[in-house]
Amino acid sequence: MRLIVYTGKGGTGKTVTSCATAIKLAERGHKTLVISADPAHTLSDALMIQDFGHEQKQVQTNLHALQIDPVAEMSRQYNVILSYMASVFSAKGIDETLAYEVAMLPGMTQLFSLLKIEEVWQTKMFDAIVLDMPASGEALRYLYFPKLVGSIGRKLSGLAGLFSGFAKVFQPLAKIPAPSKDVITSEVELLDRLDNLADIIKNGDVTSIRLVANPDTFSIENAKRALMSASLYGINVDMAVINKIMIPSSDEYYARWANFQQSKVEEARANFYPLPIREVQLFPTELRGIDMLSRHGDKLFGDDDPAQVFYRGQPYKFESEGTSIHMTVQVPFSEKDDFDIERIGDQLSVGVKTAAGRIVNIVPLPIATAGMRLARAKLEDRKLKVLFEKGA
Ligand SMILES: Nc1ncnc2c1ncn2[C@@H]1O[C@H](COP(=O)(O)OP(=O)(O)OP(=O)(O)O)[C@@H](O)[C@H]1O
Ligand SMILES: [Mg+2]
Repeated sequence: MRLIVYTGKGGTGKTVTSCATAIKLAERGHKTLVISADPAHTLSDALMIQDFGHEQKQVQTNLHALQIDPVAEMSRQYNVILSYMASVFSAKGIDETLAYEVAMLPGMTQLFSLLKIEEVWQTKMFDAIVLDMPASGEALRYLYFPKLVGSIGRKLSGLAGLFSGFAKVFQPLAKIPAPSKDVITSEVELLDRLDNLADIIKNGDVTSIRLVANPDTFSIENAKRALMSASLYGINVDMAVINKIMIPSSDEYYARWANFQQSKVEEARANFYPLPIREVQLFPTELRGIDMLSRHGDKLFGDDDPAQVFYRGQPYKFESEGTSIHMTVQVPFSEKDDFDIERIGDQLSVGVKTAAGRIVNIVPLPIATAGMRLARAKLEDRKLKVLFEKGA
């Protein structure tokens, strides 16, 4: 089974690319489900199907689509825990409506969407699930969330456990209700499901993230950050898609844009190295409907099966050792080349002189390096090894 996740900056083409991938998977005989948790009903817009609702809907042979309603998911599956948490807050004098808001931690809606994936996974009905993530620089964090919440939850013997301890201490003072058996049962079940989800996401044979960017500075930077985060979290990234590339034109205005975009595509190739890059042109009209999506899929994958894992490896690697961090970045140049390296805030700028001019590779740095200095950098075997150390 495969879980393919598309992420990238807003409007770059995540939804159309997710749908196109799902269509091609289905054509190859993989039973496929495309899922979106975007509150806007984008799957139905892209596939041009009305009255989509929030149930799995068959689109074609082997192809189902599901538009998740995170709020409905939450109330359907976790009302027991949430209403308990809300009752705790309202016992403290917080208005009930507000209590529900407070009980919803940031990122909870994303989490419920992921839990829906776990639920679908357990049914074993599909060979492939394609997940269209909402636009957010933070999106990947939620993929890591299950592992985090799962492990913390177990250590504290669960959220409800925590609340019951809390309740016992404060009950006489604040009339905090003790959690019922229902709460504890749902909470244990939740932790189990988070564990399953973390296993699915961390398994590089199962889960691949694919980055979607356009030939512009902003979306490429965004995708690079996502690549860095995924590397930190140990989640496999197997492809970058550069979408909406303009074709050459005899008109000066368009030709200028096309040239600029070409330079961005080349920069992306160097920056995402050694990830495979797929380039897709801007269609002459808005990309939507099954026919166009299918053509988009052909351009993306040609004769390749989209279920393949297109790349295994780590473009960026981070290892902590005592108070230092070793970072390894794969680069498309070797020791013989003339390169320079400079840290600019939370980025590392690596410039290299090539026959085609100076190429600059900007590498986003993890937050952990913020208080550290760049102590050493060397190039070995097309790998840039950088050491960060604590202290001035
Ligand atoms: N290659 C393309 N050619 C022409 N139009 C495209 C192409 N790719 C995407 N589009 C159009 O760009 C718009 C945004 O695409 P899409 O909704 O897939 O992006 P998204 O990344 O999912 O956006 P959001 O972040 O809002 O979810 C849509 O109108 C879509 O039809
Ligand atoms: Mg979208």
